[in-house]
Amino acid sequence: MKIRLFFTIIFTLASKIRAECSRGNCLPCSSSCQNCFSTSQDSCISCPQNYYKSNLNSSTCVQNCEVGEIQADNQQCIKCQIVGCIKCDSKQNCLQCSPNLYFDKVNNECSLKPKICQSEQDFIQEPFTKQQCVNTCPSSYYPNQKTQICEKISQCIQINDSPPLLNEKVLQLNSLHQDYYLIRANSCYFALVDQNFQIIYIEIFQNMPDFQIKYMNTGEEVQQKSFIFEEYGGCLANNSIKVMNFITKQIVFEKTDLDQDYFVQYIDYQNKIVFFNQKSICQIAWYDLIQYKFTTFGCGQTPIIGIFQIYILNKTNYYIQISVYSYQQSVEFNYLV
Ligand SMILES: *[C@@H]1O[C@H](CO)[C@@H](O)[C@H](O)[C@H]1NC(C)=O
Ligand SMILES: *[C@@H]1O[C@H](CO)[C@@H](O)[C@H](O)[C@H]1NC(C)=O
Ligand SMILES: *[C@@H]1O[C@H](CO)[C@@H](O)[C@H](O)[C@H]1NC(C)=O
Repeated sequence: MKIRLFFTIIFTLASKIRAECSRGNCLPCSSSCQNCFSTSQDSCISCPQNYYKSNLNSSTCVQNCEVGEIQADNQQCIKCQIVGCIKCDSKQNCLQCSPNLYFDKVNNECSLKPKICQSEQDFIQEPFTKQQCVNTCPSSYYPNQKTQICEKISQCIQINDSPPLLNEKVLQLNSLHQDYYLIRANSCYFALVDQNFQIIYIEIFQNMPDFQIKYMNTGEEVQQKSFIFEEYGGCLANNSIKVMNFITKQIVFEKTDLDQDYFVQYIDYQNKIVFFNQKSICQIAWYDLIQYKFTTFGCGQTPIIGIFQIYILNKTNYYIQISVYSYQQSVEFNYLV
């Protein structure tokens, strides 16, 4: 496939707003937005006082976060990461578990209460209030033996019993060719496991002794330093990028001494592109999983806070959001396939 690549820096969104301002009176944002990129209520860039950015819908502001979310200091609704937790604090300590679960304070976990299910071997399924007990979890759920909960595989899970031990918290799990799962865990740990969650092999990229100090806070990566996509796994620690095909066990791409310490910002699953960001300047990079190609794009000094994409026919436009305070700095670039 031939890829043509070009950039245009157009102030598309800004000019749209300016058009609405042409008679000297700018149209106001919806009352639920502080700053916005259009007048509708799902175009918020930041939220007014006492409103919070929705967790499900990041360009919408809500007055109350959903059950199982907290209102974080940066005016965002953040999900409680602990499975089954309906109330947590900003440090992800659970304060209350869903009915039918009890709180295990030592491990900061919610577990199935005894005698809720008929068999002690059963697992409870979401929604936990419904007392649905099963002895095997449905597909795309993982049976957590310790808490006896069927956990969604996109949530944080712990694999406890399979030797060799994966002693990092599992963040993501991808099904590969029906027979295997590729697992991404904290600190750029990857594992290929079979359907019974027996580990076939573990790969640790950038086994940095100071990974935790540099990139983590209270057990969570502050910025996402690794990704998986189909059979590929990649890590961005230590100003480098390394990508492996976990079926062939080949390193398909590696680059060290990058000018920035990138983290994963956004994945375009359709075009198979993983976008990276960093905190200091206006610069993104992306890795093209079809071409095995790493590209950077700079746009000044103000750090980028978001990337989103819009499909128009066979073309994808990517937009970079530069500032929370002003919609007038949106940059558009095109990446044509
Ligand atoms: C996001 O918010 C908009 C406007 O409030 C709403 O129309 C849309 O359904 C929401 N999407 C989701 C996934 O909640
Ligand atoms: C981090 O990168 C530097 C420079 O490339 C290299 O010398 C060092 O060995 C790397 N550290 C680890 C843990 O990979
Ligand atoms: C988009 O599709 C149309 C019709 O199939 C084609 O003529 C055009 O060249 C395509 N554009 C690009 C940029 O691939």
